[in-house]
Amino acid sequence: MLILCTGASGIVGYNFVKAALKNGHKVIALTHEHDLPDMGPALVRHKVNLENEYALQRVVLDSFPDAIVHCAALSSPDFVDTHKELAERINVGLTRSVANCANHVSARLIHISTDMVFDGTAAPYKNTDIPKPFNFYGQTKLEAEKEVLRIMAAQSVVLRITHVSGNSLTQARSLHEKFMLRWAAGERIALAENDTRAPCSAERLADVICEILERPNISGIHHFCGLESLSRYDMGVKICERFGLDKDKFVERISLDNPINLTLDMGALASKLKTMSLSFDSCLSEMEVPDSIKDWYEAQSGRKVIKRFKL
Ligand SMILES: NC(=O)c1ccc[n+]([C@@H]2O[C@H](COP(=O)([O-])OP(=O)(O)OC[C@H]3O[C@@H](n4cnc5c(N)ncnc54)[C@H](OP(=O)(O)O)[C@@H]3O)[C@@H](O)[C@H]2O)c1
Repeated sequence: MLILCTGASGIVGYNFVKAALKNGHKVIALTHEHDLPDMGPALVRHKVNLENEYALQRVVLDSFPDAIVHCAALSSPDFVDTHKELAERINVGLTRSVANCANHVSARLIHISTDMVFDGTAAPYKNTDIPKPFNFYGQTKLEAEKEVLRIMAAQSVVLRITHVSGNSLTQARSLHEKFMLRWAAGERIALAENDTRAPCSAERLADVICEILERPNISGIHHFCGLESLSRYDMGVKICERFGLDKDKFVERISLDNPINLTLDMGALASKLKTMSLSFDSCLSEMEVPDSIKDWYEAQSGRKVIKRFKL
């Protein structure tokens, strides 16, 4: 299958590209500021600003992909709050263009969305529950979902996901990477004991997207998350324990006035797939120390960073 992946340098896109290549697919990977490493002849890489609708159309019409996996987005809620017009253009406008292009060439579309289309007051959320975002990021992602379903409901999957753990191309985008970079910069991070998600593995998510692509009978809105609901405080503590870091030095326990629980119910999708989700403990074992803080880490933990060969 020829798959076009937008946002291929993000944590979701990068892990998906690796999995798709491993599964024997050909991939056209679109990135913006970052570049992917050479991963062999089955991967074609383009750096494009997808704010330019014609750039997207050109790639799609030149390649006529069988499927598009749309991961490009402004994914930081804080950044989106301060860049609302840009977020409208990328999260909503670009998604509309991607859906129109996919529809035009009859490509299947997997659109990656978020648990933040919900407000966190009534978890676990089923894929049939009515969304109610509590921030602007969630609003843009909900608008994007509506565009995809308006343009090509039968040929698309809206896959809502939650905190993604694992290793990213830039070594600065996953949860543990962000935490560790801030700890190395001298920060103690305040994490809420009542801000809850079921974090998922980036590698497992990539396998799930591959399996959805291989099952054309799946369409509509679906949820994917980890097997375990945890507070952000518990995630911080578990990451400290995994890496032999002193939790009291690096994590401060706080409590939100309005608790948030964005745990997803993924029953509808789980019953259709053979790929299983993972517990957070299994996700922990995949996590690696970012190269840029290796010296800091070894001094803090007294442990050596060991790079493992991956099959
Ligand atoms: N990561 C999570 O925990 C999480 C949780 C829930 C939902 N999601 C959703 O999952 C999807 C993927 O998220 P992610 O975490 O992988 O995002 P990410 O790591 O922030 O990466 C965003 C991607 O979008 C690309 N991009 C941004 N602006 C662009 C532009 N103008 N033109 C072309 N490409 C552009 C970036 O390219 P460059 O880096 O090359 O500039 C990057 O590849 C998003 O829809 C996000 O909302 C993620």
